Amino acid sequence: MQTATVENPLREGLRLERVPAPCAMVIFGASGDLTSRKLMPALYNLAIEGLLPSGFSVVGYARRDLTHDVFRAQMRDAVDKYSRRRPVDPTVWETFEQGISYVQGNFEESGDYEKLGKELERLDKERGTAGNRIYYLAAPPVAYQTIVDNLGGAGLVGEEQDESWTRLVVEKPFGRDLGSAIALNEHLHTVFREKQIYRIDHYLGKETVQNIMAFRFANGIFEPIWSRNYIDHVQITVAETIGIEDRGGYYDKAGALRDMVQNHMLQLLSVIGMEPPITFGADAVRDEKVKTLRAIRPISPEAVDEFAVRGQYAPGWVAGQEVEGYRQEAKVNPESVTETFVAVKLLIDSWRWAGVPFYLRTGKRMPRRVTEIAIQFKSVPHSLFKSTAGSPLEPNVLTLRIQPDEGISLKIAAKVPGPSIRLRSVNMGFLYGTSFFVESPDAYERLLLDCMYGESTLFTRRDETEAAWKPITEILEGWAIAPPQRIPQYDAGTWGPAEADAFIARDGRSWRRP
Ligand SMILES: NC(=O)c1ccc[n+]([C@@H]2O[C@H](COP(=O)([O-])OP(=O)(O)OC[C@H]3O[C@@H](n4cnc5c(N)ncnc54)[C@H](OP(=O)(O)O)[C@@H]3O)[C@@H](O)[C@H]2O)c1
Repeated sequence: MQTATVENPLREGLRLERVPAPCAMVIFGASGDLTSRKLMPALYNLAIEGLLPSGFSVVGYARRDLTHDVFRAQMRDAVDKYSRRRPVDPTVWETFEQGISYVQGNFEESGDYEKLGKELERLDKERGTAGNRIYYLAAPPVAYQTIVDNLGGAGLVGEEQDESWTRLVVEKPFGRDLGSAIALNEHLHTVFREKQIYRIDHYLGKETVQNIMAFRFANGIFEPIWSRNYIDHVQITVAETIGIEDRGGYYDKAGALRDMVQNHMLQLLSVIGMEPPITFGADAVRDEKVKTLRAIRPISPEAVDEFAVRGQYAPGWVAGQEVEGYRQEAKVNPESVTETFVAVKLLIDSWRWAGVPFYLRTGKRMPRRVTEIAIQFKSVPHSLFKSTAGSPLEPNVLTLRIQPDEGISLKIAAKVPGPSIRLRSVNMGFLYGTSFFVESPDAYERLLLDCMYGESTLFTRRDETEAAWKPITEILEGWAIAPPQRIPQYDAGTWGPAEADAFIARDGRSWRRP
């Protein structure tokens, strides 16, 4: 890993120990949505913080014909619209935009990569980027292999070595199932080595997700109770109020299981379920995460209904607004059976987790936007308060809230003041906002910076991606055997279909209502 402390005018006044070595980042698909909404605002915020190396350069690559100036102006508009810090600071922008340029090119045209190569050489000479390159695939997934082949063919991929380095960032979705993920990995490996590949899952860049590791491994009191001895089950919820917006074409072919569970939710599961790593190094952490994923009990296609239930939103009301159903959305097949809700039960066959189900639930058009992990502890073995409490005592629940109101809370039973013994559940809580008074950086800021450092702990390794696809593919295969005549419907603005409640009730449990 190469790092250097380099003078940077944007860092003036900031006490930073290191910045990455100078480099150029090529964005394939630079006129697209991801670049405008996430990548450019993240880079600009890093510039404000003084965290970018001196000479840092961005080369936008896309099909449409744009001049450097028009591209810069579009990027400035995007930052103005989507950056967490707005409006754009003209002084910071002036320095930052000097490093932005544009190459008009087609992903399929090998000749266009020669133009790109010339631009990169210019940057090496004029801005001192020293042959260090990040290629970011913000492109449609069907183009990944073509881009990689053409980069290799044009001689634009060097080894990760001491003098200079080349890295590749790959966006989600990473394949459609286990077979296609393996094929994509093999293809990437014909040009890049594994340590050059950064598969991004932006959930891992979220502060709260990283804090799960701090919570577990920097506090001695939780680890001893983090097991089947004390935990009854775990619920991971990713609920969205939005529908599919204008992503009908993509979503109808993907569905909630591929879009959310395979990547983000299994990453959360692996961080909750992993054994303590021997260090916080990239391989040590990922070794433990992948072991957890591999321990997920296989799901046979015939038994899929025991492990997964799906649903699709019908018309309804969300936040006081009437919304249409999934099948009425643009670019969606009016008879679609694609799931917009899925609940999954996964069992991890290990000493720590034997008998502790992990319930994962995600849906669109839910009543609230919330992402949380709830760890429900076993009830007390014998309640002293049965006769006076009125209702049964609720178990302790530790909730790790990822969004919104990032924080951690622990539900405990407390006595209501007064002469009689009455108990009620109360929450002990920690909120990021009120404890630290600083705004958390966007996940992409952290991840882009880590990639510049060559720090891959928060990126998904090949074996992790494949291990995560395995249970998902088993569920997809089960669903494929018996395509549903009718996919369970739920009204927009509710917590999913009745079938999902019955699914968890079979185990004597119920869903949380966050
Ligand atoms: N948008 C998000 O929030 C988001 C979130 C997570 C992951 N992702 C992933 O990020 C990737 C990009 O998504 P996006 O939403 O930004 O897509 P998008 O808005 O459709 O943009 C696609 C980009 O690719 C370019 N492009 C397409 N075909 C090309 C070709 N043959 N030659 C050259 N350029 C070509 C387009 O250029 P022209 O328009 O100039 O033709 C455009 O810049 C996808 O893999 C997506 O799954 C996106």
